[in-house]
This record gives sequence, structure tokens and C-alpha cells, in this order.
Amino acid sequence: MKWCIMLMGLMLLVLPVTAWGDYREEFEKGFLTKTWSGQQPEENFCIECHSSEKMKPEYLRITDEWKASWHAQNRIACHDCHGGDPKDPAMSMSPHRGFVGKPEPNEVPEFCGKCHIGILKNYLESGHGRAFRSSGNGPNCVTCHGSHNIQQANIEIISEQRCAKCHSYDRARAMKQALFLTEKKIEELSRDLLSLRNEGVYIDDDRMNLFSIQADFRALFHSVDVNLVKERTDEFSHKLAAVESRITATERELRFRRNFSAIILLFFVGMGSVLYLLIRTPKE
Ligand code: HEC
Ligand code: HEC
Ligand code: HEC
Ligand code: HEC
Ligand code: HEC
Repeated sequence: MKWCIMLMGLMLLVLPVTAWGDYREEFEKGFLTKTWSGQQPEENFCIECHSSEKMKPEYLRITDEWKASWHAQNRIACHDCHGGDPKDPAMSMSPHRGFVGKPEPNEVPEFCGKCHIGILKNYLESGHGRAFRSSGNGPNCVTCHGSHNIQQANIEIISEQRCAKCHSYDRARAMKQALFLTEKKIEELSRDLLSLRNEGVYIDDDRMNLFSIQADFRALFHSVDVNLVKERTDEFSHKLAAVESRITATERELRFRRNFSAIILLFFVGMGSVLYLLIRTPKE
């Protein structure tokens, strides 16, 4: 009798849970999968139409290039650069929806610079920006980075193939040398921070700090002023040294903790052995 009551009690407890489960399932099937509920990844008609068979063959590779880009990974899509409405296929390329189309070459710096503001400023004031403005002879953003297959930047962009088209490579080489040590330090510290994170240490503040130092330094490159880069390198070294000393301190603390736990462990193992021996020793 007692068992029966307990069993019924249990069933009463379990029933509403399973019923709620069914209801949730129904709800999800009938409601959450609707496109307007905001739960599904949104359809993007720019990408759909531009990768369909109807598209001009010479435009078809654009979507593939974009998919492989750093922008795609960071959710910067067609309409973020070109404007327009990705959700309304009929009106997507209407100027009324902010569509600006393909930028003319002389519009490219502002086109990219609406997001990369610090870089635009330094670029426009640089020898490159001034030459581009006055005669069209200087390189613009797309000359060095491309437009749809843009990848993460580093000093390898400075190469004979890219930089010796308009002037001798010597100028570019001098710039690469001026950037080299600071870039190498930034790379090394990023690696150290990552391995600390893999050990479970909280490093987000230092990572943000390092990102912003890197962004400032790379914006400085766009001045293409070798002397200015050399002049300001000390200032960047100081900032990086501060990050580095925090990393070293954390590493030291981690090592200490590890050694300390090892000693404690050894201590207990030792105590255990002594105890064991004491117990085992036959009493006389
Ligand atoms: C229903 C199909 C379709 C959709 C949707 C669509 N496009 Fe297009 N798009 C085209 C076609 C076709 C062309 C080529 C037009 C031509 O050259 O005559 C084109 C051309 C372009 C061009 C080049 C225009 C120029 O000025 O030379 C850009 C840039 C572009 N589309 C971006 C977008 C963006 C951004 C979106 C989404 C907001 C989008 N498209 C949505 C079909 C589409
Ligand atoms: C980072 C900004 C950026 C993004 C994102 C971007 N574009 Fe472009 N797009 C450009 C620039 C700059 C040009 C002009 C320079 C060039 O032709 O390379 C251009 C040119 C074009 C053209 C004209 C090409 C030609 O040969 O005349 C088309 C079409 C186009 N884009 C479609 C797209 C589509 C579709 C997407 C999304 C899959 C997209 N773009 C994403 C920057 C962008
Ligand atoms: C709508 C805003 C937007 C526009 C317009 C835009 N970008 Fe970006 N770009 C981003 C974001 C966001 C990232 C990813 C964050 C980052 O890495 O800085 C990025 C990353 C990059 C990177 C890699 C940065 C790195 O970490 O190494 C380069 C290079 C770049 N963009 C160049 C361009 C060029 C060239 C154009 C114009 C053709 C352009 N961007 C237009 C937002 C934009
Ligand atoms: C499309 C042509 C073109 C390309 C490509 C180009 N440059 Fe230049 N560069 C110029 C022009 C034009 C000037 C300024 C006029 C001058 O001083 O001759 C210049 C000037 C410079 C200067 C001197 C700036 C100053 O203020 O003294 C440096 C450094 C430089 N470029 C580095 C580079 C690097 C690095 C690359 C490759 C990543 C590169 N350039 C690619 C056209 C180009
Ligand atoms: C002469 C070639 C050249 C031109 C022109 C140029 N860039 Fe760069 N860009 C580079 C190089 C090289 C780097 C990497 C510098 C480094 O590693 O110190 C870079 C780095 C970047 C980065 C990465 C910044 C970061 O925080 O990691 C972005 C974003 C970027 N450029 C955008 C632009 C935009 C936008 C324009 C146009 C206004 C432009 N670039 C014009 C060569 C160029």
C-alpha cells in the first residue's frame, strides 16, 4: 500500500514535466521556426541572387571571394559596404534603400573609411593619399587589400610585387624594417596571451589593450612616413612593455601555484607512506 502511494506521487511529479516537454516541442515546431520569429538565420537576398545561375558570369566569383574573407567572418556583408536592403529582393538595389552600387575608384577611400576611420585619416594625409587625390597615381585601399577577398593584414602585404609598381622597392623596404620589431613583439604577446587563456586565465582586458595598440600602430603605417614610424616606435614599445610585464607576472604566479600544489601532493604522499609503514610495523 505504502509503495503504491509513493509510486503515484512520483508519477504526479513526472507528468507535468513530460507534458511541458511536448508543449515546448509543439511551440518550437509551430512558432520558432517561422522566418519572422527571428530565431532562424536571416535570408540574405544579395548573396542568394548574386550566387544564382542568373548572375553575370564575371560577377559570380564575387560571392565566393567574399565568403572566404575576414569581413564575412566578422559579419560584414554586401549591404554593409554597398548599402541596399538584403531582405527585400525586389527593392534590394534601390537607392531609396540606401544602395550606393559600385564605388568609383576615387570614392574607394571614403567607402572603406566609413568604418576604418583612423586609417582613412592617416591615409588621406599621407604621400599615397595626396598623390591619389591630386593625380590618381597613389594606391588606394583596394590596391593593397583587394575588395572582396580581404584577409587579415600584416607586414607581408609589403612585397616587391605589390610595392615596386610605382616606385623603387627601397622605400617600401625601409618601411617594412621600421615596422618589423614592433609587429614581431605584438605577435609574440598575442601568442603568450592565448596560451595563458588555454590555461584558464582571464586575459580579456589585456587582449583588448593589445588589440587597440595594434590598431593604432597599423593606422600609423598608413601615413607611409618612415621617419614618423621610427619616431613613435618608442611610445609603442613602452605600451607593449607594460602588457609584457603583466604577462610575465601572471606566468610566474601560475608556476608558483603549480609548484606549490606539487609540494603539497608530495607532502601527503610522504605522510601516507610513513603512516602505512607505522601500521605495517609489527608491534613488539
Ligand atoms: C534579384 C537579384 C539581385 C538581388 C536580390 C541583388 N542583386 Fe545586385 N545585381 C544583380 C544583377 C543582375 C546585377 C548586374 C546589373 C547589370 O550589370 O546590369 C547586379 C549588380 C550589382 C552591383 C554592381 C552595380 C554597379 O554599380 O555596377 C552591386 C554592387 C550589387 N549588385 C550589390 C548588391 C547588393 C549589396 C544587394 C543586396 C542589398 C544586391 N546586389 C541584391 C542582381 C541582384
Ligand atoms: C568590404 C566592402 C565590400 C563588401 C563586403 C562587398 N563589396 Fe562589392 N565591391 C567593393 C568595392 C570596393 C568594389 C569596387 C572595386 C572593385 O571592383 O573591386 C566592389 C564592386 C562590386 C561589384 C562590381 C564588380 C565589377 O567588376 O564591376 C559587384 C557586382 C559587387 N561588388 C557585389 C558585391 C556582393 C554581391 C557582395 C556580397 C557577397 C559584395 N559586393 C561585398 C566592396 C565590397
Ligand atoms: C561596414 C563597416 C566596414 C566597411 C565598409 C569596411 N570594413 Fe574592413 N573591417 C570591418 C570589420 C568589422 C572588420 C573586422 C574587425 C577587424 O579585424 O578590425 C574589418 C576588417 C578589415 C581588415 C582586416 C583587419 C585585421 O584585423 O587585420 C582589413 C584589411 C579591412 N577590413 C579592409 C577594408 C577595406 C579595404 C574596405 C573597403 C573596400 C573595408 N575594410 C570596408 C568593417 C568594415
Ligand atoms: C599605385 C602606385 C603605388 C603603389 C602600388 C605603392 N606606392 Fe608608395 N608611393 C606612391 C606615390 C605616388 C608616392 C608619393 C609620391 C612620391 O613621393 O613619389 C609614394 C610614396 C611612398 C613612400 C614615401 C612617402 C613619404 O611621405 O615620403 C613610401 C614609404 C611608400 N610609398 C611605400 C609604399 C609601400 C610600402 C607600398 C606597398 C605596400 C607602396 N608604397 C605601393 C605610389 C605607390
Ligand atoms: C600601400 C598599401 C596600403 C594601402 C593603400 C592601404 N593599406 Fe591598409 N594595410 C596595409 C599594410 C601593409 C597593413 C599592415 C600593417 C602592419 O602590419 O603594420 C595594413 C593594415 C590595415 C588594416 C588592419 C588594421 C588592424 O588593426 O589590424 C586595415 C583595417 C586596413 N589596412 C584598411 C585600409 C583602408 C580602409 C585603406 C584605405 C583608406 C587602406 N588600408 C589602405 C597596406 C595598405
